Amino acid sequence: MSQFAFDEAKSLGFESLDALIASMQQMDDDLLANAGTRVVISRGNPKAKILLVGEAPGPQENIEGIPFIGRAGKMLEKVFEAVDLDSEKDIYITNSVFRMPPGEAGKNFRKPTRVEIEHYRPYVFEIMRLVNAPIILLTGNVACQAILGQTGITRLRGKWIETGKYSVMPLFHPSYLLRNPSKKPGAPKSLMWEDIREVRRRYDTLVSKSTL
Ligand code: URA
Repeated sequence: MSQFAFDEAKSLGFESLDALIASMQQMDDDLLANAGTRVVISRGNPKAKILLVGEAPGPQENIEGIPFIGRAGKMLEKVFEAVDLDSEKDIYITNSVFRMPPGEAGKNFRKPTRVEIEHYRPYVFEIMRLVNAPIILLTGNVACQAILGQTGITRLRGKWIETGKYSVMPLFHPSYLLRNPSKKPGAPKSLMWEDIREVRRRYDTLVSKSTL
């Protein structure tokens, strides 16, 4: 794959986001179709200027059919609230993988594999094309792998990647913040506050330009 998976993204040809979502809800030949977990696609405002791509649904998301509704979702809400962004109004939220990968070794879920990420990638790009938000946030390495074709979140986070169409910012995953609660300078949480403030600055620039 080239440096950015963008270069290779081809449209799936859906005419609307609703049509795409309706078709994805019927998916029965995807890689996790036999996993016994449900299709979980998105939430938020499809007209938002910010699209956030996460990893995969967890147990709570699998029960409710809505992404980022469990503990990681609550942390994500706090991050957005810190810069006065509302996750239902100002953001559209989706994932890189659309079913919870079932667990092994006593766990009820696991991280998606590279092959699973690649399988669902065209759908993530189709959501990006149809939502057409100018700012794209990638939370964690799985989203970076899906959209950028590379990992290394500690190196990638907090820096804008300009694709010509989108401004893309990798961020730590909220679950990582839950595992690392320290607020000391240089700790993941304090880096996240810096990054989200930068996202807010870019958002304000875009909004003020679009209302001129
Ligand atoms: N973590 C994610 O990346 N996505 C979800 O939907 C929930 C938890």
